[in-house]
Amino acid sequence: MHPAARLDTLGTEQAYVVLAAARRLEAAGHRVVHLEIGEPDMPTPPHVVEAGIRALRDGLTRYALAAGVPELREAIARSLAARGVRATAENVVVTPGAKPALFCTALSLIAPGDEVLCPDPGFPIYESVVRFAGGRPVYYPLDKAREFAPHVEAIAERVTPRTRVLILNLPHNPTGGVATARDLTTLAELAQRHDLWVISD
Ligand SMILES: Cc1ncc(COP(=O)(O)O)c(C=O)c1O
Repeated sequence: MHPAARLDTLGTEQAYVVLAAARRLEAAGHRVVHLEIGEPDMPTPPHVVEAGIRALRDGLTRYALAAGVPELREAIARSLAARGVRATAENVVVTPGAKPALFCTALSLIAPGDEVLCPDPGFPIYESVVRFAGGRPVYYPLDKAREFAPHVEAIAERVTPRTRVLILNLPHNPTGGVATARDLTTLAELAQRHDLWVISD
């Protein structure tokens, strides 16, 4: 029995390989400083823990609406509006983490042979989702000399007639790079000129 060939296109996130090794060392009694997984180094705030427990006690253990709990979608839309993003609850879909959102978006937008602009260095899952959807990652470099801000010209010169999606990751993992408002405007114009989707992670 063979699984579908598309499974071979999935890479792995090495951070999880290192995490498994680190957990093995901890189980053997070693002290480990974790630098692999992007986890906050503080405990989950008590009011968040309490809200989770209360929800379970209140019986919120059934299917939610497919796009997410309406009150949560509205709260997310309000939070986006406070940051200057025009969105209503209808524009919000809640997923259990960012990876399912990346997969759903990639499978919705990328057709076989499409090129997808990805940051280099970058979150390794971008390559996996792009290849899984049948696309081809095309890397645009992030430069230490520019404090790892996306370089608009470097992105623009990689656009071809096959380019379909631009992936932006701001603040950027693993460098922490950010973009200026001016660069974002130029990138938005570039995307509009070439009819590109932008996945902003
Ligand atoms: C840039 C980036 N995008 C997406 C993810 C995945 O997020 P999640 O764990 O919520 O699926 C991560 C996780 O480290 C990340 O660093």
